[in-house]
Amino acid sequence: MNQKVRKAVFPAGGLGTRFLPATKVIPKEMLALVDKPVIQYGVEEAINSGIEHIIIITGRGKGAMEDHFDHSYELDATLERRGKTELLAVSKGVSSLARISYVRQKEPLGLGHAVLCAKELVGGEPFAVILPDDVIDAEVPCLKQMIDIFDEKGGSVIATATVEGPAISAYGCLAGAMDKQNPRIFNTTGMVEKPKFEEAPSKQAIIGRYILTPRIFALLEETKPGAGGEIQLTDGIRALLKEEKIYGYTFEGKRYDVGDKFGMLEATVEFALKREDFGERFREYLKGLKL
Ligand code: G1P
Repeated sequence: MNQKVRKAVFPAGGLGTRFLPATKVIPKEMLALVDKPVIQYGVEEAINSGIEHIIIITGRGKGAMEDHFDHSYELDATLERRGKTELLAVSKGVSSLARISYVRQKEPLGLGHAVLCAKELVGGEPFAVILPDDVIDAEVPCLKQMIDIFDEKGGSVIATATVEGPAISAYGCLAGAMDKQNPRIFNTTGMVEKPKFEEAPSKQAIIGRYILTPRIFALLEETKPGAGGEIQLTDGIRALLKEEKIYGYTFEGKRYDVGDKFGMLEATVEFALKREDFGERFREYLKGLKL
């Protein structure tokens, strides 16, 4: 029986330069997708997948995230006084969502280094990593789908999607072959971070969800700076591959890169159209635009 996946690490120390000037003061994880900060989508996905403890890796200027998931006495007292019970439930709901711990990444040395910052809090058990920039809309939460594969197979699991053409150079890319029994599983034999298009070993791009065994921490400690001069998670996982099985997993659902301006616009339109309270009104508005 595999150990249960109980903890999820959220690397959130990055500078968010792709979204300047909005992210000069506001953490990119706090930008609103319709009416909810980006990071809350990931936290809710984790909770809905059975995760009990969230570990957020923060950095300088990221304090708004801690305030967001904390009680807001002034706001709650004011809403109560004004009889705004629905809004009060929203505010209280956020602060009671999950058990959250914060670890500060003092220097932005890369994604692998950010995950390594969670070593003490994770301890010796398998854990999830969620990159909050990747918002995934799915009927069954993406992380839940991956935990089911982990429970079945026992090896680390990485979310993947097929990426055509030169766009693969923006991702980690897996080498290996599709499983004969389950076409959603990619039996991984190698991986490379941000390959040149001509050198990409497949079209299987790494998407920001991972289930990893704790052995990764010792390997990340030895990982040297790679692509972009950063300590890359992909390089640490490649070392893990020499010792353990790793599976790529084509999840069911749609991923949006909301750390990117265009990705955020796509997600905003599609999430707004699905809203019960104003989706219809928004659809009519879009139809009325002379495009
Ligand atoms: C990170 C990972 C990369 C992965 C990507 C998914 O890159 O290093 O392997 O494909 O997330 O979003 P970043 O987008 O932080 O450069």
